[in-house]
Amino acid sequence: MKLKADNSKPAAARRISRPLCRAAYIAAAALASVLLAGCRLDMHVQPKYLPYEPSSFFDDGRSERQPVDGTVARGELRIDDHLYKGKVDGKLVDQFPFPITANDIFRGQQRYNIYCSPCHDYTGGGRGMIVQRGFPPPPSFHIDRLRQAPAGHFFDVMTNGYGVMYSYAARVSPDDRWRIIAYIRALQLSEHAATADVPDNDRQKLEAQP
Ligand code: HEC
Repeated sequence: MKLKADNSKPAAARRISRPLCRAAYIAAAALASVLLAGCRLDMHVQPKYLPYEPSSFFDDGRSERQPVDGTVARGELRIDDHLYKGKVDGKLVDQFPFPITANDIFRGQQRYNIYCSPCHDYTGGGRGMIVQRGFPPPPSFHIDRLRQAPAGHFFDVMTNGYGVMYSYAARVSPDDRWRIIAYIRALQLSEHAATADVPDNDRQKLEAQP
């Protein structure tokens, strides 16, 4: 069936009006999407203060709040002086704060070789590569004074530095510092062991060797 033509408008106007209308819709939709995009919050746009950014919200003008007195960061409670300072009642001690196993000594050896051997060398003699290239030589760990020094002294040296040697506190965790000391004790023993220190069975084997 043929629809009756709308004769109220001139034919030309009727031809133009339909595409114009569609264009207007598209323009309106595009405009709306642009305007609404402004309301959207992407995850990479985070409303937050950056460290030390000023703020007009708080009276003191800072964005970060002062921690309450006595606040301790997670994992940073260090009330055990033996473990964290090598001291008991303010005095350096020779005891280790936890039992040392063979694995602790192996870990200590690994940490020692990484952090200490460049200057103290692999045997603790104090002739590491950096010293051979001109760094002031440290004392050997095998001198009497350091063989008799309490374990806490080594802990203190690693924690706070000593003379020209800088602190290793930032690089070696407290537990690992104790493991390094255990390994230094092994090194010291290795340079000062007497035949009498070798267990009977092994001593016979040792003496049988040419
Ligand atoms: C960059 C070189 C260097 C490194 C690495 C280094 N030390 Fe030292 N260390 C020195 C020097 C140099 C001295 C002597 C400092 C002085 O007397 O001024 C010294 C001294 C010492 C002493 C003797 C302190 C005393 O009573 O005389 C100990 C113990 C020690 N270091 C332990 C360590 C341990 C453990 C490490 C590894 C965690 C280490 N050092 C890493 C250079 C180094």
